[in-house]
Amino acid sequence: MSHSLRLGVNIDHVATIRNARGGRHPDPVQAAKVAVDAGADGITAHLREDRRHISDNDITRLIKEISVPLNFEMAATEEMLAIALGHNPHAACIVPEKREERTTEGGLDAIGGFDYLKPYVARLGEAGIRVSLFVEPDPAQLDAAVSLGAPVVELHTGAYCEAVGSEHERQLRRVQEAAAHAAKVGLECHAGHGLTFDTVAAVAVIPTIVELNIGHFLVGEAIFIGLEDSIKRMRSFMDQARSGDAGQRSA
Ligand code: PXP
Repeated sequence: MSHSLRLGVNIDHVATIRNARGGRHPDPVQAAKVAVDAGADGITAHLREDRRHISDNDITRLIKEISVPLNFEMAATEEMLAIALGHNPHAACIVPEKREERTTEGGLDAIGGFDYLKPYVARLGEAGIRVSLFVEPDPAQLDAAVSLGAPVVELHTGAYCEAVGSEHERQLRRVQEAAAHAAKVGLECHAGHGLTFDTVAAVAVIPTIVELNIGHFLVGEAIFIGLEDSIKRMRSFMDQARSGDAGQRSA
C-alpha cells in the first residue's frame, strides 16, 4: 500500500539483539516482512563499517526477499559504494559514520564534505539509485545537497526528539523551516532519528515531508506490544497527524 507520508521501518536493532548472542534469532529479514505486513512502505537498513548490527548477508537477503523498496544506509566509503552498486537497492541514504558513536549522532556535513561526497552522489545516481543525504535541519546543508545533485534529503530529527521545553519547540521549528526550504529548492524531504509515539505527530504533520524512517523505538516497543502492533500504532499516529487529526493519541 502506498501512503502520502511513507513509513520506512529501520530493522537494524533487530540485528543488534540477534548479534548480542550470535546465531540467527531474531531474524531482521523476518522482522522486515512483519513490518511490510503491518504497513511499512519501505525497509531501511544501515550496513555499518564495523557490522555491529546488519550483516552483508542480511542485505543480500533483504534485496531478494522483501517486496518493498530497500533504503540502504551507508557511509561514503569505497567499500559501501561497491556493495551498493553490487545490490542496486531502490535508495541509498548517505550518513556520517564514526566507529565510536553509539548511533548516527549528527547529520552529514554536506558543505565541508562537498568535494569528498560529490563522486559518491554521482556514482550512485548514475546507477539509478535514489540518493538521499542525512543532514541537520539547516537550510545551508540543503543548498549544498542541491549543488551535490542529491534529489533527496533526510532531516535528522534527533535534536528535536531529545530536547525538552522551549528547546524542543526551537528544534521543531528548525525541522519545519528546513522542510519548507527543501520544497523551495526542489528536494524531496524525508525525516528520521529518535522518533517515538510522542514525537512523531509534529513531524508527520509537516506537509512537505514525504517519508519518515523509524527504527529503535519501534523495536524497543515491540518488547511490550509486539512488532506488528508497534508499527501499526506508529502508522496510525502518522496518518492521524497527516489527516489533521493530530493529538488524538489513544492508549
Ligand atoms: N534515518 C537515518 C538516516 C538513521 O541513520 C537512523 C538510525 O539508524 C534512522 C533514520 C532511524 O533512527 P531511529 O532508530 O532512532 O528511529
